[in-house]
Amino acid sequence: KGKRAFIAGIADDNGYGWAIAKSLAAAGAEILVGTWVPALNIFETSLRRGKFDESRILPDGSLMEITKVYPLDAVFDSLEDVPEDIKANKRYAGSSKWTVSEVAESVKEDFGSIDILVHSLANGPEVTKPLLETSRKGYLAAISASSYSYVSLLKHFLPIMNPGGSSISLTYIASERIIPGYGGGMSSAKAALESDTRVLAFEAGRKKKVRVNTISAGPLRSRAAKAIGFIDMMIEYSIANAPLQKELSADEVGNTAAFLASPLASAITGAVLYVDNGLNAMGVGI
Ligand code: NAI
Repeated sequence: KGKRAFIAGIADDNGYGWAIAKSLAAAGAEILVGTWVPALNIFETSLRRGKFDESRILPDGSLMEITKVYPLDAVFDSLEDVPEDIKANKRYAGSSKWTVSEVAESVKEDFGSIDILVHSLANGPEVTKPLLETSRKGYLAAISASSYSYVSLLKHFLPIMNPGGSSISLTYIASERIIPGYGGGMSSAKAALESDTRVLAFEAGRKKKVRVNTISAGPLRSRAAKAIGFIDMMIEYSIANAPLQKELSADEVGNTAAFLASPLASAITGAVLYVDNGLNAMGVGI
């Protein structure tokens, strides 16, 4: 029987979430997607109009099918948490059941269970500000959208995850090494995400035999990364300094996620796996 994956954090065909969906689809998984509410309309329209058809092509020539797209805002756990201004916002009012608990409930109603959970989302409103200039509000927002969103997703999806299932998130080395420019508390948020990966691996492993890992990915020119502003510099830096002097392709991260979700990785849990052409292993740029 094929596996079913829920991938949170796809709104176009440029990010890691899309590449992970493709690798999982190529390996035979059924794909469900969670898309940020404000981005839902344009994503679904583009999908329907065939704008992504070229990037939907799988290695066997067929097109990746997305069985269902769910609206999702991962900073809200249930309807009671949603402030009035968001409820009244036109983009949000047009959709319903997009808090984390409601999405998990909808997936349960529609499909019963999943095998693979992917968290490929992050948001830090003050990411362009140095940590010393970051407000409490901005810092907490980064942690809420980029770290707790994962705790919440796993918490609400774990009850419908089949034993032997696998959960994956995306992190960045700014959690453990100084990357000037990755500000606003985003470095802190990734540190929390990596620490939580270990604790959640223990809890989900004992509770449901579910594995929990995170991929520390190298730089990719995604929509989110372009918003930070230094992505081209980071890509050039990596090509100049990493052991493997090539641009990282999103597919290489997608394939690693497919490996981690497969029985080939049945003893891997609680891990931070680098998929960065080896840049993390360098001590100095050379
Ligand atoms: P992306 O822009 O493709 O993905 C980020 C997604 O998060 C977007 O689809 C956005 O709509 C969604 N999102 C933001 N706030 C949300 C919320 N409250 N609820 C639901 N969805 C929300 O960009 P990318 O870069 O592929 O990001 C995916 C993951 O990869 C992130 O965790 C990012 O930190 C991580 N990463 C990215 C690197 C890069 O160089 N692009 C390097 C290392 C890690």
